Amino acid sequence: MGCAALLAVAALLAPAAAWAPSAEDELLFKAWMLQNNRRYDPGEYPRRLRTFLGNKRQIEEHNAGNHSYQMGLNQFSDLTFAEFKKLFLWREPQNCSATKGNFLRSSGPSPDSIDWRKKGNYVTPVKNQGPCGSCWTFSTTGCLESAIAIATGKLLSLAEQQLVDCAQAFNNHGCSGGLPSQAFEYILYNKGLMGEDTYPYRAENGTCKFQPEKAIAFVKDVINITQYDEDGMVEAVGKHNPVSFAFEVTSNFMHYRKGVYSNPRCEHTPDKVNHAVLAVGYGEENGTPYWIVKNSWGPLWGMEGYFLIERGKNMCGLAACASYPVPQV
Ligand SMILES: *[C@@H]1O[C@H](CO)[C@@H](O)[C@H](O)[C@H]1NC(C)=O
Ligand SMILES: *[C@@H]1O[C@H](CO)[C@@H](O)[C@H](O)[C@H]1NC(C)=O
Ligand SMILES: *[C@@H]1O[C@H](CO)[C@@H](O)[C@H](O)[C@H]1NC(C)=O
Ligand SMILES: *[C@@H]1O[C@H](CO)[C@@H](O)[C@H](O)[C@H]1NC(C)=O
Repeated sequence: MGCAALLAVAALLAPAAAWAPSAEDELLFKAWMLQNNRRYDPGEYPRRLRTFLGNKRQIEEHNAGNHSYQMGLNQFSDLTFAEFKKLFLWREPQNCSATKGNFLRSSGPSPDSIDWRKKGNYVTPVKNQGPCGSCWTFSTTGCLESAIAIATGKLLSLAEQQLVDCAQAFNNHGCSGGLPSQAFEYILYNKGLMGEDTYPYRAENGTCKFQPEKAIAFVKDVINITQYDEDGMVEAVGKHNPVSFAFEVTSNFMHYRKGVYSNPRCEHTPDKVNHAVLAVGYGEENGTPYWIVKNSWGPLWGMEGYFLIERGKNMCGLAACASYPVPQV
């Protein structure tokens, strides 16, 4: 038999063969399932395996290129971006359009770099929002925890679930989204936030169980940074404390592993941001300025739960919607 005939047979087999994973790929997937505690019924398994291998290919192609950040497999690797979005991000645009903020710029330079994690015991360990669009509550607690710690030297862990359950009157929507600035307003007018220990996180909508006598954190004022004033954000983080902000998560971000995230194709406006996080510092690497950001997808995601994102370009709308609280201490 000549080569031409063999090729013809191979061409006939190819469409079917393309769906058959190699033994090696399947082994990798099974190890990943074990590590990530995943079980599927037999009907779902082939679809998950296919999604996983598609993600793996995307990660390998990205890492073979010349990029400022690397991708890697993580707890989201069996999800399509559409599924990921539904589970972890906001479903509808939030009202983050404080075009004119009340943050007062001062004279004098901000530090060239800062990392509040290294300046003292000012940042709580990375938490995990689970399958609930409650990122905004983690950005809020993280910011207030750090502001209180910097003001008093006492690092508390605060209750996201209270914000999920109780902050609706301030345009927040539990597991369906909300904004740190609106959550700070809630804490201010509600007169307090309870601790993680007395109001534990459950990753689902619930009824409000706030007990005023158990409140341990209080807000005196809410500072909004003027829309797109990224220098204002630098000054706030450099001279005051970590700052809550929102940005647009796109499909490549869910695979982030390490390095300075940058994306020429994401949106930059407040109506497109879909995830809130916490800037705990900033710096510069090989001429690229970046933010150091605390996420709420657990300590196994990204750089021990953190990521770096390019600074100075309103990357993915990160300067569209930034704020922090002034704690009452
Ligand atoms: C990689 O990208 C950087 C920044 O865009 C560029 O300066 C550098 O020359 C590129 N290196 C290669 C090997 O393409
Ligand atoms: C935006 O604000 C308006 C007016 O306060 C409110 O009715 C609407 O529900 C808000 N939208 C969101 C997504 O919070
Ligand atoms: C959670 O509750 C809010 C109202 O408090 C509602 O708007 C939202 O749809 C709920 N989300 C889920 C996922 O149940
Ligand atoms: C800050 O933003 C929140 C919500 O986005 C808003 O309710 C509040 O009025 C703003 N505060 C100031 C002083 O502009």
